[in-house]
Amino acid sequence: MFLPDEAATLAAGAWLAAVLLPGDVVELHGPLGAGKTTLVRGILRARGWAGAVRSPSFNLLSVYDFELPVAHLDLYRLESPEGIGLEDLLHTHIILIEWPKGLDELVDEESRWRVEIVPVEPEGRELIVTPPQGRTIPALT
Ligand SMILES: Nc1ncnc2c1ncn2[C@@H]1O[C@H](COP(=O)(O)OP(=O)(O)O)[C@@H](O)[C@H]1O
Ligand SMILES: [Mg+2]
Repeated sequence: MFLPDEAATLAAGAWLAAVLLPGDVVELHGPLGAGKTTLVRGILRARGWAGAVRSPSFNLLSVYDFELPVAHLDLYRLESPEGIGLEDLLHTHIILIEWPKGLDELVDEESRWRVEIVPVEPEGRELIVTPPQGRTIPALT
């Protein structure tokens, strides 16, 4: 779907937030500045997170423990998620991963959500969401 501006990306986050469950692993694809962190912000805000949502590019992993436990990762600087404690969160948290890689040993590809954000010239983004096998997401209206 087409996201004309940042508000639309936040709204798409709210749409996703309504279907994501603890234990879900979401790959967030798209170039630098595509809106991956913005989408995560939309997911968290929609579920009532009132605090800041920063890019985990330096800390690698941000854990939000509230009514909806969420782990937000940025693997850009890593070769795999090994050693950052992702295993411990896999069954309790919604796992949102920017620059995903090295996930095959932890979660089957068919069990992962795939989200792709593609910049559109001159403005806006195209969002493509592929749910895991056996899951669906209602159309965004
Ligand atoms: N649909 C959109 N159209 C135009 N700009 C957007 C859209 N969604 C987000 N943005 C802007 O693009 C930038 C994306 O930054 P960020 O979310 O940090 O990207 P990433 O995490 O993919 O590097 C922000 O400045 C945000 O305001
Ligand atoms: Mg980011």
